[in-house]
Amino acid sequence: MAERVEVLIPEEEVNRRIHEIGEQISRDYEGKELHLICTLKGGVFFMCELAKHITVPVTMDFMCVSSYGDTTKSSGVVKITKDLDEPIMSRDVLVVEDIIDSGNTLSYMIEMLEERKPASLKLCTLLDKPERRRKQVHVDYTGFEIPDEFVVGYGLDYAQRYRNLPYVGVVKFE
Ligand code: IMP
Ligand code: MG
Repeated sequence: MAERVEVLIPEEEVNRRIHEIGEQISRDYEGKELHLICTLKGGVFFMCELAKHITVPVTMDFMCVSSYGDTTKSSGVVKITKDLDEPIMSRDVLVVEDIIDSGNTLSYMIEMLEERKPASLKLCTLLDKPERRRKQVHVDYTGFEIPDEFVVGYGLDYAQRYRNLPYVGVVKFE
């Protein structure tokens, strides 16, 4: 099936909003050090751009989690395919996500990270599709709330493609 991508959030708008969130985070964490945890692969573009606008000292780590499969997705069972390199105990941690959809992945991740006893744990997402939520997750920083459409770009993929688009687009099948 042929598909095309329509721009939903233009590049300038995405960058402007990320800049704003970076400034807000810098204010909220003033006097502290911030440990960013990026969820691979989708969160990478967002985290890199965000980190450039944070003025407090920043360290970074990466984690990869994936759902076991469609049948178990609603149970929120996810597996860690790449764990963090460093402990997070007593650190101020900010999880940086590309998108929150059902909330299953994140609610599992947050629970697991809480067990490692960080000093604080907050969540930042570029995109949020609130209509699709199945598990309640508290989000501290949101870039954009979007309608229930399949989006790509700025790290998000469709069959591993389109991650490199500098804007957020909607995939249209024709
Ligand atoms: P959740 O567990 O349902 O919240 O799923 C979140 C994950 O599903 C995200 O981290 C993405 O990898 C993927 N995802 C959800 N919606 C989209 C979308 O519109 N485009 C691309 N990936 C998506
Ligand atoms: Mg993701």
